Amino acid sequence: MADFGPSALGTKEHWDNTYEVELENFKSHEEEGEIWFGEKVQREVVQYFINKIESKSVCIMDIGCGNGVLLRQLANKGGFSNLKGFDYSENAIQLAKNIAKAGNELESKIDLFVGDFLDGSFAHRCGIALDKGTYDAVSLTTLPDASKPLDFYRQQYKNSLTQCFMPKLQF
Ligand SMILES: C[S@@+](CC[C@H](N)C(=O)[O-])C[C@H]1O[C@@H](n2cnc3c(N)ncnc32)[C@H](O)[C@@H]1O
Repeated sequence: MADFGPSALGTKEHWDNTYEVELENFKSHEEEGEIWFGEKVQREVVQYFINKIESKSVCIMDIGCGNGVLLRQLANKGGFSNLKGFDYSENAIQLAKNIAKAGNELESKIDLFVGDFLDGSFAHRCGIALDKGTYDAVSLTTLPDASKPLDFYRQQYKNSLTQCFMPKLQF
């Protein structure tokens, strides 16, 4: 089967530009921005978590959280209180922080930070990791170095995912 070709959706520049516009939209008329895959999918994901996860304090981490909309829904509708979200786009995280700041008690439940899941040194731990659309973007990443096959990024993603669940080593 042929692999995906490179796409703008696989570049950081694309996401920086996207969230720069969304950041401005939020500042000027409180528009929170895109819900990837639509509201129905998001509702189903939140409902799945409510049905399956008993503990409201388990650490849930959203890989490539974008504007953070899913985390806010997990806090507001699901009652989850130990949420982490990161994205490699500083604009996305700024937007997610601005929206959380405007929401009731959201800032205390959602820890947001800038991070690249593929940089090989991802060190954040969680109990549950979720991803809505980020692995898709990773799979469309343009190769800067032609000697590295696209599978390099997918493997790096899996390595980082494994790290998320590893107990911290102590010496
Ligand atoms: C399709 S969007 C989905 C955003 C969000 N999960 C949602 O459902 O609204 C993909 C997201 O992945 C982020 N992303 C792509 N590659 C990443 C990487 N290597 N590390 C962290 N975030 C990444 C992008 O900046 C973008 O916010």
